[in-house]
Amino acid sequence: PMTEARRPIPHRVAVYAHRGSSGSTPENTLAAVDFAVAQHADFVETDVRRTRDGRLVVMHDEGLGRTTDVEDVFPGRAPYRVRDFTLREIKRLDAGSWFSPQFAGERVPTLGEFVGRIGRRSGLLLEIKDLGVEQDIARELKRRPGYLTQAVAERKLIIQSFRVSSVRAIHKLLPEVPVAILYGVKPTDAALVEAASWADHINPRKDLTDRKLIDRVHDLGMRIAPYSLDTGQEMRKFLAMDVDGVITDNPGTLHDIETIS
Ligand code: G3P
Ligand code: CA
Repeated sequence: PMTEARRPIPHRVAVYAHRGSSGSTPENTLAAVDFAVAQHADFVETDVRRTRDGRLVVMHDEGLGRTTDVEDVFPGRAPYRVRDFTLREIKRLDAGSWFSPQFAGERVPTLGEFVGRIGRRSGLLLEIKDLGVEQDIARELKRRPGYLTQAVAERKLIIQSFRVSSVRAIHKLLPEVPVAILYGVKPTDAALVEAASWADHINPRKDLTDRKLIDRVHDLGMRIAPYSLDTGQEMRKFLAMDVDGVITDNPGTLHDIETIS
C-alpha cells in the first residue's frame, strides 16, 4: 500500500550533485564530476576561488588544509589559503587521499578543467566563493567556444552565491545565464520580492525551507532547491512540498526513490 511517505514525486525535479558526488568521491575533483555523471545528476555544483596568480580553481574552503596535503607539501605556509598559492603550487597537491587512498593523485581542478570534464554530460551549478571573481568567471566561460550559447539553450548552467552583490554582478556580465541566490539565513519577504525581478532560483538551507517559503518563491515566479539533502527520507519530505530541485551529496539516493515510488 502506498503510504504518505511513499507518495509519487509530483514532478521531475533537478538533481544537483553537491561539490560533485561528494558523498562517494572527494569533493570538487574530476572524480566527483565523473561519479555525478554516472549517477545521472542534472547539475554538478562547485565552488570557485582565485589563486595568488589570478587563476580560477574549484575549492570549497578558503583554506587548502581540509581537502589536500598542503601542510605536508608546503610546511610553514599557514594559514594555507587558496589565494596565497599559485596554480602551479596548488597543482602539486593531492586532493583525493584525505577522502580515501583509492583517490590518491586527484588534483585540484581549474574551473576550465572542471567545466571541460562535465562537457555536455551534465549541467553546472557554479558557486562564486571569493570576492571579485565575477569578471574572471565570465571571461573563462566565454573563452570556451560555443559553451555559453549551448549551456544556456540546454539549461545546463546556473550561477549562484550567498552574496547578493556577486549574483547581481554576474547577472550584469552574463544576463542570459540563470542565477540563484543562496540563503543561509531566512530571506525577508522584501528580499524575495526584489530578487524576483531579476533572479531565477532561490537555494536556501534546508532547515529554512518550509511550505510557506516554497509557495512564496513559486508565487513570485522563481524556483527553489534546498541544500543539502542527504537521506531518502529528507528528500521525500521536500519533494512532497514541491521543491524544484534537491542539492545533495548523494544523487543516487533520489534516483532510488524515483525508481521505487
Ligand atoms: O549549493 C548549496 C551549497 O553548496 C551551499 O553551501 O557551503 O556547501 O557551499 P556550501
Ligand atoms: Ca557550494
